[in-house]
Order: sequence, then structure tokens, then C-alpha cells
Amino acid sequence: MEKERAIQIDLCSSRKEKPRDDELEFGKTFADHMFVMDYSEAQGWHDARIVPYEPLTMEPSSMVFHYGQSVFEGMKAYLTPEGDAQLFRPERNFKRMNHSNDRLCIPPIDEAFALKALKQLVSLEKEWIPKAMGTSLYIRPFIISTEPFLGVAPSRYYKFMIILSPVGAYYEEGINPIKIAVENDYVRTVKGGTGEAKTGGNYAASLKAQEAAEEGIAQVLWLDGMEKKYIEEVGSMNVFFKIDGKVVTPALNGSILEGVTRDSVIELLKHWEIPVDERKLSIDELYQAHQEGKLEEAFGAGTAAVISPIGQLVWSGHHLDINQGETGAIAKQLYNTLTGIQYGEIIDPFGWIVPI
Ligand code: COI
Repeated sequence: MEKERAIQIDLCSSRKEKPRDDELEFGKTFADHMFVMDYSEAQGWHDARIVPYEPLTMEPSSMVFHYGQSVFEGMKAYLTPEGDAQLFRPERNFKRMNHSNDRLCIPPIDEAFALKALKQLVSLEKEWIPKAMGTSLYIRPFIISTEPFLGVAPSRYYKFMIILSPVGAYYEEGINPIKIAVENDYVRTVKGGTGEAKTGGNYAASLKAQEAAEEGIAQVLWLDGMEKKYIEEVGSMNVFFKIDGKVVTPALNGSILEGVTRDSVIELLKHWEIPVDERKLSIDELYQAHQEGKLEEAFGAGTAAVISPIGQLVWSGHHLDINQGETGAIAKQLYNTLTGIQYGEIIDPFGWIVPI
């Protein structure tokens, strides 16, 4: 696709002070350098560079500010006990980024080159990878439309950037079970919409429901946008339920994000010979299963959240406790195995790890 090109490096004059591992929050501090690359119709993607993390200068008329033509990704770099940095299935994130690009009419990136740039950036910023278990260096690649133009059309100029942020747990609850509310009024997306793409607008559209949710609700669980009947995903994660001994997750249908952690969970369950079904799952079926004592576990899966057990579901005035509000055995096993592989404490039999 794109030809091999050099990455210019411009180092910062002084390094920022790093937060302590025990005071890390999600996405609040940023490493010293970032990757940037520009796109124009004449030059394609060009001018790849690693530069100090600093504010951008952009025209107020830049299209991204008006029509939201943008995509993003989320992945992490981990430190092994030997002190080596590694990534988890990064090629899938760049592949998904191109899938999102296609939906948002953004020109594709060269996935292999993006991975090369990311490795170079992370190796330069290795000191920013926190060491404590459960912490990591969150990686946020994103593309924004930069053409100064108010017409509604695909931009002719873009910026592709990667920024890095040392993080702790995504939820305040850490790996303790969270409380989730099923959303009956607002919808996140519809079939034919942008649900399958990782674009900011999907998340902007989700905020109102989150704001309306009762105290103590970590996130909302979305139902499909047409019938408001079938379970889709949680705000920042895909979702899994163990019903009567079988793990069920909503099948990808064009409006659900194809999570890398989701795919890894399914692979792990199959590897362990635990039955797993990707299918339509209605909220009525879930409620019924709960009433019959067959809803054994629920958990979310995502890069930022890893595996997040769900201790209670709130739906239409019903408060459904799941597994007495405790973390279930499958969620625990998945969390331990995934993080074990990611942090290099367990041998990776799947070829998921990419050393830096
Ligand atoms: C991730 O899990 O990396 C995500 O992109 C979720 C994000 C919206 C926090």
C-alpha cells in the first residue's frame, strides 16, 4: 500500500515528572512524545514524525470540530518481569482502524508502518510504562479531519497521531464487580449506522444515558437501536453472560464494536472447552434466566477495562444481583490468563504478544 518511509525524530528538551504507579488514573497524564503523520490528496500519508507531546495549532474551521469525521483506537503496552516492553495483538487494532476509516471516508493507513511507528514510539517512551500489576501504558492512536472547510464532505486533509498515557484501572471499582443499567430510552446506534466503527460520535451519543443513570452505575448496557430488545454492548466494553453453564455474547451484527479483548475471550473459552455462543440475546431472555437462577455470571471485556465483572444489572426498576455481587470463576480465570499473557507471566500459546 504505502511505501516504506523514515520517521523523523525531534526529542523534547526536558522530560516531565512521571506519576507514581499507585496514583495512576485512567487517561489523565501523557508521555513526553507523540507520533504524528499528515495526509493530503497530493502527498498521501506523509511526514511521519515523533515529536514532543504538545498542543496542536488548528484552524477553528477544521472539519473535525464541526462534523466529527474522526476515528480512534485503544491498546496497551505492558512490562514483563524481565523488564521488556510488549504489545497485545496490535495488528488487529490497526486493521480495525482501517475498517473504521472506511466507514468514516478517511483514507486508509499502512497498518505495518503504523505498527513500526508505534514500536518506535513505545521503545522511546519505555520509561513511561508503569511497573505495578494492573497498570500499563495506554496507547491512543487517532485520526482527525483537518481541512478548514464548512461544507459537508470528506475532508481532504487529516492528521494521524498516537499519544501514550500511563494508566491504572479504568473503573473506580478496579476489578471488583460494577453495577450496570440497561438503557431503555436512548440508543447508541442502529443497523447501518456507525456502531461497528470506533469513532468519537458513538461515545458522544452515549453520554446522555450515562448522565441519566442512577448513582453508582458505572456504565449503561445498550439494547439494539431498532427493537430495543437485544443486548449489544456496554459503553466501553463488549459483554458476556454465563447462562446455565454456557457463555453467551451478542453476535457481531454491524452495530457492535468488534473488540480485540472480545475475540481473545472467545478464543480462550474455546481453548478451555467452555461452551461459548455468539448469538442474539434479548433482555427478556436474560431477565428470565435470572428469575430461574440460571444467570450465573456477567462481565464486560475491553482493552481499557480488561475483564470487568458485573455484580448487578438494573433494568426497568428491577435490580438483578448476579453471582451474589461477587466476581465469577470464569471472569476471574479470564482476567488472570489475559493479564498473565499480557504481562509476560504466562506463556502465550496463541501468538498474541508482539515484543517491542
Ligand atoms: C478501549 O477499551 O481501549 C476503549 O477504547 C474504550 C475507551 C472508550 C475508554
